[in-house]
Amino acid sequence: MRLRARVPITRGMSEPAPAKRLYIKTYGCQMNVYDSERMADVLAPLGYGVTDDPTGADLVVLNTCHIREKATEKVYSELGQLKRLKQEKPGGMTIAVAGCVAQAEGEEIMRRQPAVDLVVGPQAYHQLPELIARAHRARGERLSADFAPDEKFDALPAVRNPAGVSAFLTVQEGCDKFCTFCVVPYTRGGEWSRPAEAIEAEARALAEKGVREVTLLGQNVNAYQGVGGLAGLVRRLATIPGLDRIRYTTSHPRDMDDALIAAHGEVEALMPYLHLPVQAGSDKVLKAMNRAHTAESYLRLIERIRAARPDIAISGDFIVGFPGERDADFEATLQLVREVGYASAFSFKYSRRPGTPAAAMMGQVAPEVADERLRRLQALLDEQQQAFNAAQAGRTLPVLFEKTGRHAGQLVGKSPYLQAVHVTAPDRLLGRIVPVTIERGAKNSLAGILELEAA
Ligand code: SAH
Ligand code: SF4
Ligand code: F3S
Repeated sequence: MRLRARVPITRGMSEPAPAKRLYIKTYGCQMNVYDSERMADVLAPLGYGVTDDPTGADLVVLNTCHIREKATEKVYSELGQLKRLKQEKPGGMTIAVAGCVAQAEGEEIMRRQPAVDLVVGPQAYHQLPELIARAHRARGERLSADFAPDEKFDALPAVRNPAGVSAFLTVQEGCDKFCTFCVVPYTRGGEWSRPAEAIEAEARALAEKGVREVTLLGQNVNAYQGVGGLAGLVRRLATIPGLDRIRYTTSHPRDMDDALIAAHGEVEALMPYLHLPVQAGSDKVLKAMNRAHTAESYLRLIERIRAARPDIAISGDFIVGFPGERDADFEATLQLVREVGYASAFSFKYSRRPGTPAAAMMGQVAPEVADERLRRLQALLDEQQQAFNAAQAGRTLPVLFEKTGRHAGQLVGKSPYLQAVHVTAPDRLLGRIVPVTIERGAKNSLAGILELEAA
């Protein structure tokens, strides 16, 4: 879903060439992006170096997503292609399937695709070296996870090689909310929070390696249970020298407490952007989804957040075509969107997931009806995003430059509102936060020019 390309700036040229090649393909959410990075860290001491081409790789890891049927099916077609590469590779290729599909249907993967050597669920990545050694000895052994995230985090190497100036940092895993459409509580287990000390140590180490921005990750990150909750954690991390920007995702409206709202008004490093999924605007549908909030309570919450931080950019997730959704229910979703005014959003057609309560509900919506609703919702959300971006024209925004652009002499950075900003600027500004005057905003990005002092 939301993947970010980042520039490798810290991996030194002087490191010895790794003996074995590791290819990791990541699907799904940012948590998987973080996990893929950590798997590479676990495997580095065994001599595996990351390559961006699966051809000839010694080890291939697919880090998979189970959230919608399409995401899951992609894995099987990818495996079909890998099988051919494996046959052509002298000396053999080990294929591992990781992530949420591995957790949900590991046995089926082994059955459907004999080329797969091992499956490993999201809580067992620290066992990868051992699993790979065992798979090399006896193919076909099914190796997977038990839920023990604390063990996992303790066993992961303390030192990370961040891939750029903006890094993900997992602080919470799992979900107890059991929205009736969603597989995450089954693939990731119950809510679990990492101790604040461990998170702070990881954030400090990242900052020392040049990271300027961290995005704290959790399936329900604002349910973070460490001392002081997520607000306490944000305030703690905001004191780390060099760490100028803090973001977090994804939040549940139910866990958006007063302390966190206050932090948005008070902590300078906390960026004015909030991803707060609502899913639907009809109370009947929200109830059937087991969301534990109403459209009205969500709107009031947004009001309180905006009172604390008036310029905050709001983002969300939406599902259309949930079982029992009638035209009037869908109109209520459009109405809610109009009232909130989103800076960006993700919207999906309901996907029926085996084993979830909604899969067995009456009133499954015809695909062409859901298609039409999705089209209308996306048109409205696109319009809002375009308007939000266009409204930045003429403003001067601090931009964190993350990578070089497609055109020579161009850098791409991020505004506080998570917009991509394209600027003609020298490479030495990479990794720096620089004032940029925005000239125009298009649907997916802004264009700006450097203030004179920075140029
Ligand atoms: N924990 C997060 C996000 C989980 S998955 C949250 O609660 O917001 C990301 C998004 O995928 C969800 O917000 C939802 O909009 C969408 N999604 C989840 N299950 C889905 C399904 N069965 N069909 C369609 N979209 C789904
Ligand atoms: Fe899924 Fe709901 Fe949990 Fe989000 S809060 S991960 S949508 S069950
Ligand atoms: Fe997908 Fe698992 Fe993330 S199902 S969205 S990879 S938690």
